Amino acid sequence: MSDPYFQQLFARRIGGAGYGKGTEIYKFEKIKRAKRKVLAEYPARPLIDFGIGENDEMAPRAVRQVMASEIGLPENRGYADNGIAGFKEAVARFMDREFDVTLDPATEVNHCIGSKTALAMLPAVLIDPGDVTLMTIPGYPVAGTHTKYYGGEVYQMPLTAENDFLPELDSVPAEVRRRAKLMVLNYPNSPTGKVATRDFYARVVEFARQNQVVVAQDAAHVMLSYEGPPLSFLQVPGAREVGVEIHSLSKGWNMIGWRMGWVCGHERLVQAFADVKDNCDSGQFIAIQKAAAAALDDPDVPRRTRQKYHRRLKKLVAVLSGFGFDCRVPGGSYFLYAPSPKGVAGGPSFDSAEAAAHYLISEHSVCTVPWDDAGAYLRFSVTYEAADEAAEDDLMAETESRLKKIQLAF
Ligand SMILES: Cc1ncc(COP(=O)(O)O)c(C=O)c1O
Repeated sequence: MSDPYFQQLFARRIGGAGYGKGTEIYKFEKIKRAKRKVLAEYPARPLIDFGIGENDEMAPRAVRQVMASEIGLPENRGYADNGIAGFKEAVARFMDREFDVTLDPATEVNHCIGSKTALAMLPAVLIDPGDVTLMTIPGYPVAGTHTKYYGGEVYQMPLTAENDFLPELDSVPAEVRRRAKLMVLNYPNSPTGKVATRDFYARVVEFARQNQVVVAQDAAHVMLSYEGPPLSFLQVPGAREVGVEIHSLSKGWNMIGWRMGWVCGHERLVQAFADVKDNCDSGQFIAIQKAAAAALDDPDVPRRTRQKYHRRLKKLVAVLSGFGFDCRVPGGSYFLYAPSPKGVAGGPSFDSAEAAAHYLISEHSVCTVPWDDAGAYLRFSVTYEAADEAAEDDLMAETESRLKKIQLAF
């Protein structure tokens, strides 16, 4: 196919004139292709899918019922702009109930169409060419991509077993600190499953003050916290003076496709975010905002989601430990992040987690997600489809029987 006349016009941020011609295949696309291939080659061998990073259940019935009745009301039909008061008030009640954090719903809360969009917009609030965003690696890359779109740079802070999956703030070089304007954190962390501590957040506040950096803490997985009650960054003294926290209804409430979240914290930052957002979208459908408010008012929903994924993680740890994986139940999220095997006794050796993941899916129809950014790790998600606990147990038994056929070496 010959190039369209506008091939030369693509912006450098997406590859310039080379856009669409790259041959690199991204990790998740490779996994999708491997899944399709193995399903075609071994149709009788069911796929054990620990690769999916999305809740397996629908939103709660009561939430769907609110949606069903709100969808028919004429007053919900229009642009929602920066959101309805009812949703912001529900957020304030939720933050108070769960975290003892008091927020002014009118000025310290703004909804977003899923937390991904908030992470995409926040760099517009702060980043000019040459500015730096501090981010963890591995991590959720969206804020970094947009930082680069604005001509900024990303400084990566590795999360490793050695630093207990908390970034070493002291090791950020002085030259980087001078240019840094934004630090994006994510706890409970995806993919490592690490939860933050109050002590760590206190150090983050201190770092932010000393280096004049704004903190954006991505709390998308916060309601999936297993070591004690969930912790909000805003619970820590001083946090509200240095940043915002971004929340999501996706994970804790089984509302991934509903696209609903919020940004809360420092009033001026929330306002700046709302100004950028106002120039990007016209707000989430009001019926969804009302259904999300109902979800926030029911403490039972995230509690049930948390119990389910905690139970599944415990079962998975019991199985994988028996085959040499060095793993324990994570502090949060629905991901188990375990050092990748180095090979198979009498079989292939793996020079990366990607190679190990490729072997497991192609030879045994066990799908995982490899991470090679800071050490070689496999991510197992417990969001597989299983109707009840008996189905979960069957899936674990099948996992065991597949792994028994190989002797993984670590
Ligand atoms: C760490 C993290 N942050 C944010 C998101 C985005 O979530 P949503 O846009 O559904 O709120 C995800 C989704 O996978 C995530 O893993």
